[in-house]
Amino acid sequence: MPANRWLLGFSTLLVVPVFAAEPATPARDATFSKDVAPILQRACQNCHRPGSIAPMALLTYQDARPWARSIKEKVVLRVMPPWHIDRNVGISKFKDDPSLSDAEIATISNWVDHGAPEGNPKDLPPPRQFSDLDKWHIGKPDLIVSMPRPYKLKANGQDEYYDIDVDPHFTEDLYVAAVETKPDTGFAVVHHADTNLVEDPEEDPVGLFLNEYAVGKNADIFPSNAGRLIRAGSKIHFNLHLHPDGKETPVSVSLGLKLYPKGAAPKYVAFTQHMGDVADLDIPAGQVVRSDGYFRLPKPAVLSAFQPHFHTRGKAQCMEAIYPDVRADSARPGPARSETLSCVSNYQFGWSLTYPYAEDVAPLLPAGTVIHVTTWHDNTDHNPHNPNPKNWVGYGQRTIDEMSFAWVSLYYLDEADYQQRVQARRMAQARK
Ligand code: HEC
Repeated sequence: MPANRWLLGFSTLLVVPVFAAEPATPARDATFSKDVAPILQRACQNCHRPGSIAPMALLTYQDARPWARSIKEKVVLRVMPPWHIDRNVGISKFKDDPSLSDAEIATISNWVDHGAPEGNPKDLPPPRQFSDLDKWHIGKPDLIVSMPRPYKLKANGQDEYYDIDVDPHFTEDLYVAAVETKPDTGFAVVHHADTNLVEDPEEDPVGLFLNEYAVGKNADIFPSNAGRLIRAGSKIHFNLHLHPDGKETPVSVSLGLKLYPKGAAPKYVAFTQHMGDVADLDIPAGQVVRSDGYFRLPKPAVLSAFQPHFHTRGKAQCMEAIYPDVRADSARPGPARSETLSCVSNYQFGWSLTYPYAEDVAPLLPAGTVIHVTTWHDNTDHNPHNPNPKNWVGYGQRTIDEMSFAWVSLYYLDEADYQQRVQARRMAQARK
């Protein structure tokens, strides 16, 4: 990536801010054994170990030393670990957030800047124990839907995308309490795997986003009393992003479901909704283009996760809430209020990450709120993923076309429940 190289050349100018309020302070005279190994264990090794998805292991000093400069570059730019949400805007508390604190980044920089020393091996933490790659995190599924036959990924070449619809012949509506997608074979080459629910192949062949597998991402286990609805007749669409690693590999992926007992519907039905689609995208060659789309919430809602969606020209996306005017029918309406919920300012093509909000800060929004999604596409040659900056691009399903919308996971509330939750949050805030 030319842009990264340029920054690396000036990396001493990249001052990493360390806020006084932050509990951990960066290590000085950092060594691998004492200061860096614990960070790699927590945030990197799940992917950077033999048999997993990353190109090299980062388990030992010998593994990590040759990569020291590259490690510094990737963590300072917050490209690694993959978690590209903007930390300075909107909501900053998420479930299973793997990202590094500013102090951890400063520790890694300090280590690299004074020669990446090993230090005393006695300071090493005990090696991290990993759960088996093929373990279901939701417990034994009640139902498993698998690809009918493995896909043979060739040994070498470019990344591939593989799509297949499976009809599990669901004869009745099902309520899902927990859902997980994971490879049965081919862990080392499955970069990520999405499952979608296709309710009506004519109307919407891509379907509704259901769940995503990526290394280190565990299952979606819904809060008690909440679940996801799978309508009778739905098909499961698998979308795999595969990354050849030198050996021909058979890849098979399954979806595991824990279900609510027959006849027991949860109170809150969670689902995932396209928000802010722009159907008439117009992205001229060589330009950065902004587009705006909107979705009005018909009822009060809790938004539980945000996932920006675009293709190779994707650059950034923000989601804001435009609140309904509380005094709309008064003689002096307004002022209108809006709030930025989340931005991904540094999108990395190939990492379609879902950002699940921590429950106590998940957006709790009144009926009539407009979700405003702003998307920026970069169709210039500064975008390292751009397959052809000389082409005009419009809306379409193919990877060479573009899209702009957010997958938003949410569930609706009734008015009384909404008011109660608003009160509970006010009280929790007052206690702080
Ligand atoms: C979710 C899996 C995952 C996690 C977690 C992760 N990486 Fe990576 N890393 C990858 C993959 C896959 C690549 C290959 C490039 C890509 O796909 O973006 C990569 C590439 C890299 C590279 C560039 C290698 C090259 O060939 O130039 C470095 C350096 C790196 N990672 C360091 C780290 C560090 C340091 C951490 C933790 C702070 C980390 N990664 C966490 C999956 C991961």
